[in-house]
Amino acid sequence: MGTAINELCKKRPNASELLHSKLGVLELKTPLTVASGTFDLENLEFFDPACLGAFVCKTITRLPKKGNPPPRLYETEAGLLNSIGLQNPGLDAFIAEKLPVYREQLRMPLIVSVSGSSIAEFAEMIEKLEACAGISGYEINISCPNVENEGIAFGVSSEIVYQLVHRLSALTQRELCIKLSPNVSDIAEIARAAEAGKASSIALINSIYGMAIDYRTGKSRIKKGVAGYTGIGIKPVALALTHKAAEAVKIPILAMGGIYTWQDALEFIWAGASAIALGTANFINPLAAPELIMGLGEFLLERQLSISEIRGKVVI
Ligand SMILES: Cc1cc2nc3c(=O)[nH]c(=O)nc-3n(C[C@H](O)[C@H](O)[C@H](O)COP(=O)(O)O)c2cc1C
Repeated sequence: MGTAINELCKKRPNASELLHSKLGVLELKTPLTVASGTFDLENLEFFDPACLGAFVCKTITRLPKKGNPPPRLYETEAGLLNSIGLQNPGLDAFIAEKLPVYREQLRMPLIVSVSGSSIAEFAEMIEKLEACAGISGYEINISCPNVENEGIAFGVSSEIVYQLVHRLSALTQRELCIKLSPNVSDIAEIARAAEAGKASSIALINSIYGMAIDYRTGKSRIKKGVAGYTGIGIKPVALALTHKAAEAVKIPILAMGGIYTWQDALEFIWAGASAIALGTANFINPLAAPELIMGLGEFLLERQLSISEIRGKVVI
């Protein structure tokens, strides 16, 4: 499985053409990326990195974050609960220590995931990152509370989403992908606000709320109680939100939420995704990425279809 994509392309010369996709300003060799916080360089030791069209790193905040106390991961009957709490070394340490390693080792576009607590803080972070080479784009994680607006998460107010994206899009020509919160009443309205602010793409979904309790003791399985729920159990939710967002906007969608296999990936492309990401699947099957790309490639070849030909063509 080591060189899955190379083998596929050798066998079938037009595989690379069919797998090609575009995410905003980025040309992707394959539509597959990895979900922020679920994958790092060590995962790339298991397979040929050419399977991935882009690499999205763990969310970075301006200051270092220690994260939440354990237990902060729990595997449920259908997916995973996590309460990592955006543990990261902070922007300066990221630029000084992590970015040079990514620059040297990654042979694909790097998308840096960023989170801030105010529009000014997001802007300050993007300005610093703009001065750095080796970054192809940003994923703006807006699931965090906004200190300027009484702690309301950025992602739930279309007005704040518009103001934030409008400010950031003026600062960069790189890919500007806005990662929306699924915990909203109208995803179409939020997606339209991101598009109006000149985002070049949107990503969805982040984790939904979840909880697990030990029935014997009544004790929460996660130290903080309510956690982020991801993986197979959220796939129908993610599919519905991808479909609704795709109907609302013209900018491309990077979809995730319970994608484990090439069949799952196809469902999201039919729903309207231009690219897809593997998240929780990376914890379960280290070869999920090459297996997905092989299966997707074979399917497209067999049908002589490209990603763009099926994207958003769900039959209802
Ligand atoms: C352990 C873990 C850590 C995560 N960390 C982040 C993060 O730092 N930033 C972010 O935007 N999303 C984070 N996520 C959410 C994923 O990027 C993704 O949106 C979510 O897991 C849904 O995809 P999945 O069902 O394929 O896992 C994390 C998810 C998990 C499971």
